Amino acid sequence: MRCYLHAFLLCVVLTFVSLLYVFSQLTSTLEDRDGRSVSEQDVPDRRRHDTGHLRRKRPGLAGLRERERLDRCKSQSVSYWNPFWRLPAGVCGVNCLLDSRERKSSVGKGIRDERSHLAVVACGPRLEETLTMLKSSILFSKKPLHFYIFAEDDLHDSFRNVLESWPTTVQAKFTFAIYPITFPKENVNEWKKLFKPCASQRLFLPLILKEVDSLLYVDTDILFLQPVEHIWSLLSQFNTTHLAAMAPEHEEPRIGWYNRFARHPYYGKTGINSGVMLMNMTRLREKSFKNDMTAVALRWEEILMPLLQKYKLNITWGDQDLLNIIFHHNPESLYVFPCQWNYRPDHCIYGSNCQPAEQQGVFILHGNRGVYHDDKQPAFRAVYQAIQKYSFGEGMETSLLQPLEASLQATTHTYCGRTSHLFTKRLKQSIMSVEQDITQRK
Ligand SMILES: *[C@@H]1O[C@H](CO)[C@@H](O)[C@H](O)[C@H]1NC(C)=O
Ligand SMILES: *[C@@H]1O[C@H](CO)[C@@H](O)[C@H](O)[C@H]1NC(C)=O
Ligand SMILES: *[C@@H]1O[C@H](CO)[C@@H](O)[C@H](O)[C@H]1NC(C)=O
Repeated sequence: MRCYLHAFLLCVVLTFVSLLYVFSQLTSTLEDRDGRSVSEQDVPDRRRHDTGHLRRKRPGLAGLRERERLDRCKSQSVSYWNPFWRLPAGVCGVNCLLDSRERKSSVGKGIRDERSHLAVVACGPRLEETLTMLKSSILFSKKPLHFYIFAEDDLHDSFRNVLESWPTTVQAKFTFAIYPITFPKENVNEWKKLFKPCASQRLFLPLILKEVDSLLYVDTDILFLQPVEHIWSLLSQFNTTHLAAMAPEHEEPRIGWYNRFARHPYYGKTGINSGVMLMNMTRLREKSFKNDMTAVALRWEEILMPLLQKYKLNITWGDQDLLNIIFHHNPESLYVFPCQWNYRPDHCIYGSNCQPAEQQGVFILHGNRGVYHDDKQPAFRAVYQAIQKYSFGEGMETSLLQPLEASLQATTHTYCGRTSHLFTKRLKQSIMSVEQDITQRK
């Protein structure tokens, strides 16, 4: 009896081993095909070796996996799997298999990161405004989001409580981390005082979030009227020297601030506005910046302090002025996106001057100078209030768009109110697109 059992076990083991052999043969055949195309492209020796190595682990299961998943997994190393199973290059080891199973339920944990990374700095009475901004980012986005919330300590609990109180279907769309406000030890007070409290925190994001490749920084008074992934995708339009993207401060030089009043260098004709700032921080950290202080170019962490010392008596808008000075001397590093990506009262206060918004509508609304909270620009406030009052789960057309259109009707005594169809043009499309998805899922 025992003898049979032994023989049986032996058989099982042998079958297993031969299956493995067949499997590995199959894999190498597939790799050879891939290997050839790789070596044609990659010239440097070392690189070729590395790529070849990766490719050698290419899947025998290739047909079963979509390319997307392979790409997504590339950054993950699971070398302990390879010699044996020869699992894919894309390196879908344990992690990836688990990941692909979890993918539907918990977006945002993907190994290839398809999230848009959004950072905001909130101090003082900005809790509600920041939450409304975050809400707007979630409402229309179809891809997952990750939030970096920099806030004064006493706001941390409130942020966490509200975000965790949102419906689970909403929470499935984002992940978040909350950070304290931190400044370089030397000069803490000087940085804090600069412009609005905490605003200059944004300058240090590339140094604080060292592991983060790219980031969309927005002010708290931003409202997204279309999916965040649209602005995120501008990163892929960067040429090799671009490392940040912003909109001009003004379209109309006659009412521009920098060109009339600035006592420091600024970017381009009218300067740039830093309320919506898309950054490739990997490049920001690597670049040496030309400047008017030293003959040698300075790294990001080296340039900020001397710049502040040199210009502190001449700057008005704080860190935004410093960014203007930096990009004045390094214009090739800046990708300028048009005004509908950062639409402010300046664009309509004396009549509409943001041409692209007239064609395509406003993509991102920026209610600076407190216009969401006073009576000066009721059209801006109407958008803010509509989004703030909307509750997740309600129909967006009936509970967001229609009430907004109604309240915009009452703002036509202002120039911005008269162009308020621009405020809803893109928003309407975003809402239709989301509602369509919902109906299709039903
Ligand atoms: C600051 O402004 C004053 C007055 O316009 C000017 O003379 C001075 O050169 C400026 N300082 C710097 C560092 O540009
Ligand atoms: C940022 O730049 C680095 C270095 O050029 C590049 O490897 C990376 O892919 C870029 N990130 C994005 C999101 O384009
Ligand atoms: C990238 O575009 C900027 C203009 O946005 C330009 O000044 C710069 O020369 C371009 N860089 C390259 C490498 O083409």
